[in-house]
Amino acid sequence: MASDSKKTVLITGCSSGIGLKIAVQLAHDPQERYHVIATMRDLRKSGKLEAESGHSLNKTLEIKQLDVTQEDSVKKCLDGLPDRKVDILVNNAGVGQIGPIESLSMEDIRKVFETNFFGVVNLVKEVLPGMKKRGSGHIVVISSVMGLQGILFNDIYAASKFAIEGFCESLAVQLLKFNIFISLIEPGPVNTEFEMKLMEEVSRSDFPGADPETIRYFKDIYLPSAHEIFVTLGQTPDAVAKATVKVIGMDQPVFRHQTNILYTPLTALKYADNTGNLSVRTFYNLLFNYGSMFHFSLNFLRCITCKCFRRRVMPV
Ligand SMILES: NC(=O)c1ccc[n+]([C@@H]2O[C@H](COP(=O)([O-])OP(=O)(O)OC[C@H]3O[C@@H](n4cnc5c(N)ncnc54)[C@H](OP(=O)(O)O)[C@@H]3O)[C@@H](O)[C@H]2O)c1
Repeated sequence: MASDSKKTVLITGCSSGIGLKIAVQLAHDPQERYHVIATMRDLRKSGKLEAESGHSLNKTLEIKQLDVTQEDSVKKCLDGLPDRKVDILVNNAGVGQIGPIESLSMEDIRKVFETNFFGVVNLVKEVLPGMKKRGSGHIVVISSVMGLQGILFNDIYAASKFAIEGFCESLAVQLLKFNIFISLIEPGPVNTEFEMKLMEEVSRSDFPGADPETIRYFKDIYLPSAHEIFVTLGQTPDAVAKATVKVIGMDQPVFRHQTNILYTPLTALKYADNTGNLSVRTFYNLLFNYGSMFHFSLNFLRCITCKCFRRRVMPV
């Protein structure tokens, strides 16, 4: 189905959220540059993607099964492609995890790494030989600002994204030799099913092993603040997909792209002070000592990002 002039793009985790939107936007590319292999671990969840892909379904977009944690599933999917050819790999599949570390089982902790870290490694290992042979390729990873800056109660999720950032940073240098690019897309909060899935998990747990003080500030301080951040700063999955599609279209793709400019000051804190104290203490004080400043900052951001304010300061 893919003609030689089209680039084959394989995307993981397309049943919902950012992955679904990237698949649809690429499949609807006005210049028809892409043939999209939109994968998901459970094909029973393909209805939403089928509906949104419309006329491109089975033309510029094909849906296939792929579970990033299962080597057999990855191999089977790739074996089903002509010459196993993938020009652009988009590693989007990911899972979150929040809560006091003492209350998480090692099995649940490992599951996050199985998807967010080993899942990406699994796919990269499979596509690299072909890309190297052809002397071209692009590997895109949907990372997170939490791959740059750890956030409390997201210890394991942030660690999995830090791990993938280190992996990509190391690979990027060697792969340039083969004309293969790597790009890390680093969104801040995005309003997808991601947050809802986390909240559902949290509501089912009574946090065994965690002390009452930690549980109290997780529930009373962290959860409401996190929700406020999603409401105030959250992007749409369409906006993150648009930023990703732009990076995919670049002749010389950038290595890093933060999709939410409102988040850049937070990640910049880390690089402004190499003792690390500035970012650690700023986050601590904003949450625990100066709660009113935290709310003020979010309301300020809400004002300067609202459409009517932007129209006044940046008239078109
Ligand atoms: N939402 C945010 O605030 C945010 C912020 C920064 C970065 N990100 C990153 O963006 C990516 C997409 O997340 P999203 O916000 O679009 O959330 P989402 O709507 O929950 O999408 C996650 C996707 O990953 C899939 N997935 C999970 N485990 C998988 C596996 N083992 N194999 C294949 N697919 C699997 C899910 O499939 P099922 O439907 O089968 O579960 C789903 O399609 C993730 O890597 C996430 O870390 C999200």
